[in-house]
Amino acid sequence: MQSTQNSIHGYWSSDRAFFLAATGSAVGLGNIWKFPYITGENGGGAFVIVYMACIIVIGVPVMMAEIMLGRSGGKSPIHAMKDHVKNSDGHNIWESVGWMGAIAGAIILSFYSVIAGWALSYTFLSAKGGLANINGDGAGQLFSQLLSSPGSLLIWHTVFMTMTMTVIGYGLKRGLEQAIRIMAPWLVVLLTLLAIYSVLYASYADSLLYLFSFDFSKLTTESVLVAMGHAFFTLSIGLGAIMTYGAYLPKSASIPKLTISIALADTLIALLSGFIIFSIVFSNGLEPSSGPGLIFQTLPVAFGNMPFGRLFGTAFFLLIVLAAWSSAISAVEPINAWLVEKYGITRLKSSLISGIPVWIFGVGTLLSFNIWSEYKIWGKTFFGVVDFLASNILLPLGGVLIALFTGWIMQKSISRAELKIGNRMFIGWMFSLRYVAPILIIAIFINIVGIF
Ligand code: PFF
Repeated sequence: MQSTQNSIHGYWSSDRAFFLAATGSAVGLGNIWKFPYITGENGGGAFVIVYMACIIVIGVPVMMAEIMLGRSGGKSPIHAMKDHVKNSDGHNIWESVGWMGAIAGAIILSFYSVIAGWALSYTFLSAKGGLANINGDGAGQLFSQLLSSPGSLLIWHTVFMTMTMTVIGYGLKRGLEQAIRIMAPWLVVLLTLLAIYSVLYASYADSLLYLFSFDFSKLTTESVLVAMGHAFFTLSIGLGAIMTYGAYLPKSASIPKLTISIALADTLIALLSGFIIFSIVFSNGLEPSSGPGLIFQTLPVAFGNMPFGRLFGTAFFLLIVLAAWSSAISAVEPINAWLVEKYGITRLKSSLISGIPVWIFGVGTLLSFNIWSEYKIWGKTFFGVVDFLASNILLPLGGVLIALFTGWIMQKSISRAELKIGNRMFIGWMFSLRYVAPILIIAIFINIVGIF
C-alpha cells in the first residue's frame, strides 16, 4: 500500500511558498470585511476570544487533517479521497468530501467574485478622487447606485474572474506561486501603512478597547456558533482548497508547524484589519455595527474626509482586492487540478472550462442585488441561497466528514508518518478529530438549519 504519492502538478518551490499560498487563501474578504462587522455585532472582545478558541480547537486540527490528506494523496481532492477511501477500505460515501469541496469552491467563487468586484470598483473610484468630501448620504447613494447597476457589476465581476482564471491558467509555479509572491509583500505593506495611519490620525485607543474589552453579557449561543462558522470560512477549510495546496507540499515540510503559522497569520491579519477599521470608524463618529455595508458605506466617508484620504482609500480597497484575489484562486484550484488529472488538458483549457460556468453562476448573484431582488426562495435572494448553501451547509459538512474520516477511517500509520509528531500530540489531535470537532461542528450545523 502506498502512503504517499507524487503530484503531477509539481510542488511549491519551498515551505515558505506553501505558507504564503495557504495564508493568501485564508486571508480574504472574511478577514477584512466580515470579521470586523461580526465582531461588532457579537460583543467585541468576548467574541474575539471565542473565535480564537474555535480556531485553536477546531480550525487547527481540521486544517492539519486537510493538508495531511492532500500531501499523502498527491492529487486533487476528488482523486485523493478516492485513493484514501480505497486504501482504507472505507465506504464510498467518504469520496463525497472531494466532490462536495470542488463544488463548494466553485459556488463560493461565484459570489466572492461579485463582492471583490465592488472592491475593485471602489479602488478606481477612490483613485479618481470620487470619494473626496463625501458624506454619509452620498456614500449610501454611491453604494446603492453600484448595486442597482447590473452592467457595472457585470464588468467588475468579469474583470475579477479574468484575473483569477489567468493566474490559474499559468499553473502552479508561474501562476499561483508567482502571483502570491508579488501580492504578499504588498498586503503587508498596505496593512502596515494603514495601521500606522490609525495610530497617528485615528481613534486607535477606542478601537483597541472595542476589540479587547470582554463584555461576556453580549455573547449568546448564536455568537458562539457564528464564531465557529467563521473559523471555517476564514481558514478556507472544509472544501478541499487547502487539501489541494497540501498536495503540492514538499514531503519534507512540517505540517503541524505550517498549520499553526497559517492560523496565526490569518488571525493576526483579521485582528489588524479590525483594529484599522474600527479606529477609522470611531474617529469619524460612524457606527461600528453597520453590518456588511461597513466597508463600502461608512469607510468612504472616513477616507473622503481624512488627510491623504485619496491615497489611503485607494490603498485600502486595493488591499481587499489583493486579499480576495489570492483567496479566489484557491477556491477554484481543486476543480482545475481534477480536470487536468482526469482529461490531461492544459491549464488554459481547464481554467476556461471551470471559469466560464462560475462566471455565469455569478451573474445570478449580481442580479439578486437589482433585477432579481424580488425573487426569493426560502425568503432569500439567489445570492442568499447560494451563500447559505456553500458557507453554511457544504463547508461544515465537508469539515465534519474530513474530521471523521481522518479520525476513524484512515489508517493511523499513514497520518502518523505524514505528521511526524509525538505520541501525546497525536493522541490529542485524534481526540479532537474523533470527538471535539465533529460534535461542535454538528452543533453549528443543526443551529444553522434551524432544527434547534
Ligand atoms: N478564507 C477566505 C476569506 O476569509 O475570505 C474565504 C475562502 C476562500 C473560503 C477560498 C474558501 C476558499 F476556498
